[in-house]
Amino acid sequence: MRDMAPDLGQEKIQALDAEAQRIMKLNDRGGYTVPTAGLYPYQWNWDSAFAAFGFARFDPGRAWTELETLMAGQWANGMVPHIQFHRADPGYFPGPEVWGTEGCAGKGPGRVASSGITQPPVAASFAWRVCQRDPVAGEARLKALFPRFLAMHRWFIDTRCESGAVAITHPWESGRDNAPDWDDAMAGFEPDGVGPYTRRDTSHVDARMRPTKADYDRYLWLVQFARKRGWDEAAVAAESPFRVADPTMTFTLMRACRDLRKAARVLGEPEGEITGWIERLEAGAETLWNPETGAHDARDLRTGQHAGSVSNASFLGWWGGLEDRRALPALTRILDAAKYALPSFDPQSPKHDRLRYWRGPVWGVMNMLASTGMAEAGLTAEAARIRADTIALIARHGFAEYFDPQEGTPAGGGAFTWTAAIWLGWASPSAGKE
Ligand code: DGY
Repeated sequence: MRDMAPDLGQEKIQALDAEAQRIMKLNDRGGYTVPTAGLYPYQWNWDSAFAAFGFARFDPGRAWTELETLMAGQWANGMVPHIQFHRADPGYFPGPEVWGTEGCAGKGPGRVASSGITQPPVAASFAWRVCQRDPVAGEARLKALFPRFLAMHRWFIDTRCESGAVAITHPWESGRDNAPDWDDAMAGFEPDGVGPYTRRDTSHVDARMRPTKADYDRYLWLVQFARKRGWDEAAVAAESPFRVADPTMTFTLMRACRDLRKAARVLGEPEGEITGWIERLEAGAETLWNPETGAHDARDLRTGQHAGSVSNASFLGWWGGLEDRRALPALTRILDAAKYALPSFDPQSPKHDRLRYWRGPVWGVMNMLASTGMAEAGLTAEAARIRADTIALIARHGFAEYFDPQEGTPAGGGAFTWTAAIWLGWASPSAGKE
């Protein structure tokens, strides 16, 4: 049985809005926000873009600053790294000394210390939304960032677009670190010689809610592998055992290109190149379609095999702008199987693990993307169900990193920036009512 969203009442809505703002300010480190203190003490790429979406509700100027800081960390080759290490923090591993990106050719001189991989490109989509809130003040700031977004998207198309779908070189790039989507590709190599290391994540959060040691060994092995090649995209593409086409990357880039094209129109910039990218990504999305699961699915580019994974990313096609409804029966099955939507992995699969990070729990940010896309595609009831469940989870359990899809139990880090941000920008009954 599914749950119904509680009828909150004005006072409770106002209290939740105030708490969400408080969390965003608490995690503000001056120009950028951390996802949460302790567990994630730096600036993460897509977390930061969601943060801008939340700030736009009460401080559009601060929203732009968030995006500007994020894009200032862009590498010379166009890539925007997944972590920017603005200030040293021993509470996180792996820090800048493990990544060793200093001096590598793609980065270029004078950039902030960073990781060597990227994350789902939602920044242009949220810049467009921030601009919608105050187009008069926003346009100049959007215009200044436009070339950076263009360069970022071009980098994805040139280096990562294989058969049109977007490849990841490390599970952390997908943002869905330990999703079952990567299990087969991760089992395809041994993390030999990775050496001893001390995890920090499990000192902040219950180990049952985090990736396993077998995963972590491979995460680090892949970092060392790319580092040895000077973070050279071509060498990693040619030699790494891990290269998987990812629905999250493909659909967020598709949407970000559509949003960038809207921006180009308003700013009087050329659209033709962006339109070409969208067409290429649409063709690529078809290579992710798995007829056996009836959903979009990750595909191992080394073996050509689908992962057989029905995840929350499987339902981002509508956010990407696809119109077809082939995934609707699979979505209906997943919605029926979870008390709280949208579980990050199929509750009917033996691999489902309701507390372990991206193998089961519900994530507010994915709910925002999926539900918004569904609403736009006319899947009104499905979109409303996902939003109502997000409201119920946050109202009852607070601004957690993620939630158990059956009990609603909050899990992972607390006082989480992006959960607060999607509350303010989307889930809150007050959103869009100003
Ligand atoms: C982590 O440290 O768990 C992050 O997800 C890596 O980006």
